[in-house]
Amino acid sequence: MGGESRIHNFGAGPAVLPLEVVTEVAESLPNMNDSGFGLMEVSHRSPAFQEVIDSAMGRMRRLLSVPDDYEVLFLQGGASTQFYMTALNLLSNGGAADFLVTGIWAKKALAEANRIGDGAAAWDDSSNGFKSVPGDGDYSVRDDAEYLHYTSNNTLFGTQFNHLPDSNGKPRVVDASSDICGAHLDVSKHDLIYAGAQKNLGPSGVTVVILSPWAASRGKEGLPTMLDYQTHISKGSMFNTPNTYGIFVLDKVLSWVERNGGLDGAIRRNQKKSGLIYDMLDGSDFWRPHAEVGSRSMMNVTWRLADEGLEDVFLSEAMDSGMGGLKGHRSVGGIRASLYNGCPVESVEALASFMAEFESRHG
Ligand SMILES: Cc1ncc(COP(=O)(O)O)c(C=O)c1O
Repeated sequence: MGGESRIHNFGAGPAVLPLEVVTEVAESLPNMNDSGFGLMEVSHRSPAFQEVIDSAMGRMRRLLSVPDDYEVLFLQGGASTQFYMTALNLLSNGGAADFLVTGIWAKKALAEANRIGDGAAAWDDSSNGFKSVPGDGDYSVRDDAEYLHYTSNNTLFGTQFNHLPDSNGKPRVVDASSDICGAHLDVSKHDLIYAGAQKNLGPSGVTVVILSPWAASRGKEGLPTMLDYQTHISKGSMFNTPNTYGIFVLDKVLSWVERNGGLDGAIRRNQKKSGLIYDMLDGSDFWRPHAEVGSRSMMNVTWRLADEGLEDVFLSEAMDSGMGGLKGHRSVGGIRASLYNGCPVESVEALASFMAEFESRHG
């Protein structure tokens, strides 16, 4: 299957999937689950696909302990569509919503909310280079805010909330694109959760949205059909043709997570993997980790080299040693290792020993 020539993939998304899952998917291409229909050739209206989507929904609910009265949707349009769709559905016209602006994605979500109402940054770390997330005492949420929006993991800058942010009693809306099912998330403490699948859950093209009864009931009359959560709730995410292939892969990824210790197992592995890299970064002045210690991400580790001129050498030697996807986002520069659920511990061990060896040659 060519699995032996795969590189260690540290890309930020679409990201590495467990090889076991990739192999299962490959085997399902000509004939999905013995249905006789190829994976990309099966009708979403068929019993064979209904089984797939039911299974994926069930796993999502079980893994995240989604309360029974919450809705789970598999939509398209990416997390970027949710920036607008959340505000369109949840925010009264002209109403207030507060945002913790810990990165560029949060900034984009805020800009979209401002098309509907009065979105404001309760906290904004841009002048500090997005190195940290706020503690509860660092901001206040307006009394008239209808909800608080935050980004649980900041993919570009490598920061992550390691606590549930205070919302002044208001509903919480979270963009969990880059740490869903890879970090703790108390669904019952949120009213809306959205996440693109292409990091921790599967391929691009599926967006998971989880809504509380409050969030599900907020829609207004006359919303554009496809942007109204009720459209998708009432049709079990199949008002129109969903991403059948993507939902199949997501189900397989969640099944793999279940077989490998569930959410706790995934979190333990992510702690271990990120610990290996942070230990290297903290070990000498050769490396310059980007995020402040209390805000460090388990999913995306970002750093510079003290000698920035060596960064391209690092990236090209890493690639020559079979490690790819390490180039930092252009807004941060430097190096970023994304360590999502599908990234094996062995890949991270290989990266850590490459770093040690690189430092010994160039330090
Ligand atoms: C935290 C976060 N939010 C939103 C997005 C945008 O997602 P999409 O490309 O699915 O619209 C990303 C993509 O990397 C992300 O990391």
